[in-house]
Amino acid sequence: MEERQYDVIIIGCGLAGIYCALNLEKSLKVALVSEGSIKDTNSYLAQGGIAAAITAKDSWQWHFEDTMSCGHYKSNPQMLKTLTQNAPEEIHNLESLGVVFDHNEDHSYMLGMEGAHRLPRILRIGDYTGKAIMESLWRVVQTRTNIQVITDFFAYEVTTDGMGDSSVTGICNEDLATIYASNIVYATGGMGHLFNRTSNGKTINGDGVSMAIKQGIHTRHLPWIQFHPTVFYNTSGAQEGFLISEAVRGDSAMLLNEKGERFMRNYHPLLELAPRDVVSSAILTELSKQSSPHVWLDVRHIGSRRMKMRFPTIYRYCKEKGLNLDLDLIPVAPGAHYSMGGIAVDSVGKTNVDHVYAVGECSSTEVHGKNRLASNSLLEALVFSKITAKEISRMKPIHEKVIQVHSPISKQIPHYEVELKALSIWMDENMGIVKNYPEIARMKKVIQAMIDEPVEFVQINIEDIKCNNALIVMNEMLDQALQEKEDD
Ligand code: SIN
Repeated sequence: MEERQYDVIIIGCGLAGIYCALNLEKSLKVALVSEGSIKDTNSYLAQGGIAAAITAKDSWQWHFEDTMSCGHYKSNPQMLKTLTQNAPEEIHNLESLGVVFDHNEDHSYMLGMEGAHRLPRILRIGDYTGKAIMESLWRVVQTRTNIQVITDFFAYEVTTDGMGDSSVTGICNEDLATIYASNIVYATGGMGHLFNRTSNGKTINGDGVSMAIKQGIHTRHLPWIQFHPTVFYNTSGAQEGFLISEAVRGDSAMLLNEKGERFMRNYHPLLELAPRDVVSSAILTELSKQSSPHVWLDVRHIGSRRMKMRFPTIYRYCKEKGLNLDLDLIPVAPGAHYSMGGIAVDSVGKTNVDHVYAVGECSSTEVHGKNRLASNSLLEALVFSKITAKEISRMKPIHEKVIQVHSPISKQIPHYEVELKALSIWMDENMGIVKNYPEIARMKKVIQAMIDEPVEFVQINIEDIKCNNALIVMNEMLDQALQEKEDD
């Protein structure tokens, strides 16, 4: 067992994790640990961009109001004010770190339109905004001598005494490793892969939220999952969870049902640019009336030339699937996309346990309310991870102190005869856009009984940890869903 001491351990290398690392005082010794590479993060996959009231025609107050209304007025107003007021500054910060957003010929920002925004305010880099930002910031991370990157570190247990002695234990290159720090930051991403149909990367299955629950950290709003309306529906093979960005609808793409009708006319005055939850549930209604399991996205009037220029990743993907975008329609259906809930944090990212923080999608800052406004997620990752970094940086570095070795960590874990795939299909069917509460209540009892009385224990391994994590997060999510229903 290896032992190392840091000031801060950040678990997760998505945008929130790396931006937090970059904004920590350079005198602090930081470990950035992650299960996979930056390419496995949702941030890297993000096609659409970052919303910011960056021009004189816009205002942070409008951005605030659009977010509030899209989220059903469930956002925390103070946090949302912080988010929207800080947006332009974070855009400029990214630029100073080497990020180049799309510009018009007159050098003004080329701003995109997305659902429920009152005007175009999305800064983008083609349809690979996340990839471009992550690659720029990753280059900066590699120049920072105080940040040690440890990839292939699958964290599974965090311990803390609440006074600055904490540890993260994980499986690192098939060995167990424990690293120690004064402060722990969860930046572990969302929970999309608890669902079968999802736009999320394969490592995004709530492992961090589960670790936090095991550590006694409070979570909230776990059932508030956003379903993206237009995940590519592969009509002839496995579902790969490829997203057709909302930006394409912002560029005038239309949704058609099996009969070729532009059905959004029957649901919302903003048509395809209605809030995401409205569009996704409209699609679900259409699917219930037709035999085909998908609807169509029509970009024929946009044309393949413009699609190739504005959305090269999507253009390439569709081409690989044999679609000619001048002639063919794109098959799409909703999929789990974003977790509005997560680890409960205060205005500086603190959890209920001292010296433990959470940033990015795994955290619940309550800025998004019940339905996130498009392109506010990378923004949240930037604004709040920086605030958390500043908060941690106020503390004195203590990495020179002698470490306390914690009590031995169990190497045996429960093994359940459960298939994650089957669970994720159950989630689609019962915890999706429409919730089946009697079935949720039944499943909650089944999972609780499994957790309470494991019948078999095995040597620790990633597969079983992932299964345990999924059961723990689902158990909590189902519990919160039933509680919400009761409070309604
Ligand atoms: C998209 O490009 O449609 C996703 C952007 C987001 O989730 O805000």
